[in-house]
Amino acid sequence: MDALALEATSTKKPANGVPAPAPAKRKPAKKTKKAVVFFEVEILDAKTKDKLCFLDKVEPNATIGEIKSMFHKSQGKSLKDEDVLQHLPVGTTATFYFRDLGAQISWVTVFLTEYTGPLVLYLMFYFRVPFIYASKYDFSTSKHWVVQNLETLFVHRFSHGTMPLRNIFKNCTYYWGFAAWMAYYINHPLYTPPSSKTRKIPYPTKNPFTWIFVLVSCPNYTYELGSWLGFTLMTQCLPVAFFTLVGFIQMTVWAKGKHRSYLKEFRDYPPLRSPILPFIL
Ligand SMILES: *[C@@H]1O[C@H](CO)[C@@H](O)[C@H](O)[C@H]1NC(C)=O
Repeated sequence: MDALALEATSTKKPANGVPAPAPAKRKPAKKTKKAVVFFEVEILDAKTKDKLCFLDKVEPNATIGEIKSMFHKSQGKSLKDEDVLQHLPVGTTATFYFRDLGAQISWVTVFLTEYTGPLVLYLMFYFRVPFIYASKYDFSTSKHWVVQNLETLFVHRFSHGTMPLRNIFKNCTYYWGFAAWMAYYINHPLYTPPSSKTRKIPYPTKNPFTWIFVLVSCPNYTYELGSWLGFTLMTQCLPVAFFTLVGFIQMTVWAKGKHRSYLKEFRDYPPLRSPILPFIL
């Protein structure tokens, strides 16, 4: 979006059949008796000449930088249901653009498809189902400790056929008890979820995991990279390293975008912070 150039069209010559921007007269402000003339500004796509944006309340002394930021505001963020018409950067005639986001799927579907896939696939390899390795290995498992250790991440192995009965009471007390206790408060009619609507700069708290906020904007991605690097070291397997690399590239793109939006939104954003890797990236 930053690559778009604003092309000023003269009032006299309409470009490509698009009506020329005409200064619109508005009612004079109550206190000053001088009539304020607002400009109407159209922003077109340089290639397709499609109308991208129409600003009909631009002050005569607005700078190109201000117009750019008005454009970004009108483009970058899609409107929320609770946005109020008179607070939007439009005059009395507003033009809304409908963007088809394509077919949408629910988060449940996303979760199930994204996470069950790897789980099922990993298990197929873990249990060496036929037609993957030589048939003499069918349904055997690896003897290496790294693989067995990884197994605890993916599968729970029942090493003993039975379990002492008292463990049932212990485990059920733990799971059922805490489930009921947590559910009571979470579903309480008077429960209010922590409101995260106010947009502010995240800062480190007492929680040591947040301390890295001193150095990066997206600690979640920094930690995720760390865990996949650990996984790569543990397995020393090339596809794992590639997976880590591809994930790192994608997370860097996201982190840079978030970092940029923080910088744009908050003037006092901590200058020491990098998007994902302290002092590097
Ligand atoms: C990671 O953190 C960034 C910045 O706080 C946030 O925008 C993003 O949604 C987070 N991503 C995930 C997958 O939690």
